[in-house]
Amino acid sequence: MNAPHMDAPIAGQGSLGSQKFPVEALRTQFVALQQAGSFIFFDNAAGAQVPQLVLGAVNRHLVDHNVQRGGRYPQSLAVDATIARSRASVAALVNARRPEEVAFGLNATSFVRLISLAIGQTLGARNEIIVTDLDHEANIATWLALERMGAKFRWWKMRAGGSLDAEDLIPLLSARTRLVACTLTSNALGSITDARAAADLAHAAGAEIFLDSVHYAPHGPIDVQALDCDYLVCSGYKIFAPHMGFLWGRYELLQALPTFREDFIADAPPGKIEAGTFAFENVAGMDAAVNYLARTGRMLAGRAGAPDALSMREDVEFAMRTIQTYEQTLSLELARVLKDCGARIYGIEEDSRVFERVPTFLFNMPGVLPQAVTEAAARADIGIRDGHMYSPRLMDRLGLARESGAVRVSLVHYNTMAEIQRLASVLSGLAIRR
Ligand SMILES: Cc1ncc(COP(=O)(O)O)c(C=O)c1O
Repeated sequence: MNAPHMDAPIAGQGSLGSQKFPVEALRTQFVALQQAGSFIFFDNAAGAQVPQLVLGAVNRHLVDHNVQRGGRYPQSLAVDATIARSRASVAALVNARRPEEVAFGLNATSFVRLISLAIGQTLGARNEIIVTDLDHEANIATWLALERMGAKFRWWKMRAGGSLDAEDLIPLLSARTRLVACTLTSNALGSITDARAAADLAHAAGAEIFLDSVHYAPHGPIDVQALDCDYLVCSGYKIFAPHMGFLWGRYELLQALPTFREDFIADAPPGKIEAGTFAFENVAGMDAAVNYLARTGRMLAGRAGAPDALSMREDVEFAMRTIQTYEQTLSLELARVLKDCGARIYGIEEDSRVFERVPTFLFNMPGVLPQAVTEAAARADIGIRDGHMYSPRLMDRLGLARESGAVRVSLVHYNTMAEIQRLASVLSGLAIRR
């Protein structure tokens, strides 16, 4: 059930062969990792660290041209140029057909809200929206709020194995379906959705598909054309940039949506979905984060020189495919450690299904409160999280209390096998004490 573009790397496209993933070299680019001493960042699903390139870009923006866009003086022209450059970089990151399909803003949730409010005004006879019980609440509650605008809802339910199966969409779709809203990857369980299959089914029913790529984004290549989706939302701070969000949407669809804008703003993307001023310095940081990935891709592929506008997509894709392969080794090791420590893993746990997940694991230690596990980890200088992970409906499905939930460990490409061993000592200590 893997989408081919999210699968194991195709030979020669992101595979390092027998070469080792240069995790230590990449870690040196993250000042926070260098300064953290023995602290281990294992809560990346809640926000990742940023490389030096991003720090430099944010700093330069604030020092050199911290002014409003749209003026005729050099600093203001530089802001316009930064936004345009970042738009082109993010377009390359997601393989957009044109940069105007990318909009910048505060975070992912506010973009889901913005698009849902616009779609709510266009419901008519197609008034059904399909939501899932696996998603982050940001991509559920925002849609449910359209009930007041006449929307009806159908639930695409996770299978017992911990993922959404596109086949289960078939009976939910009809001539009344307006949109399917689902995640590319669960922020709680780490399972990847076959979003292309879902998009094909939605389109065959005359509906659209809205993808939440927030959790998937740091773990693998995004290709909106290969996914054939209609909207896709993401948060910069999960993908090595500062706190900000971006939206990609098919140009014609964004063009047609009724959105709030002042009269003097043209009714065209991206301006029509970027009302007000956003954090330009963080958009500069987002551009630098894509550049970090592109440089990493060039380095991994052994290509000389810095990335340019033409090679950006290829370089980022290579980086993300290689990162994906490395992260699969982290997933296998983390699953082994959790099982050895007697943890109950929720979601995918079979080694043979490692291609269907990212290294984000939700689990509980039998007889130990989730909070006690994260406190023990904190005492050992490891940052992990307990609770419902903003997916309270998923906790209901798993039979877990919303208040206590479970424990989540979420890794990215700068994490190491040695760090997993440190977590193993904490968990095995808890298992023995029981
Ligand atoms: C899968 C997923 N979707 C949406 C969100 C909300 O993102 P934001 O904080 O940018 O609104 C998160 C945040 O953790 C998430 O993990």
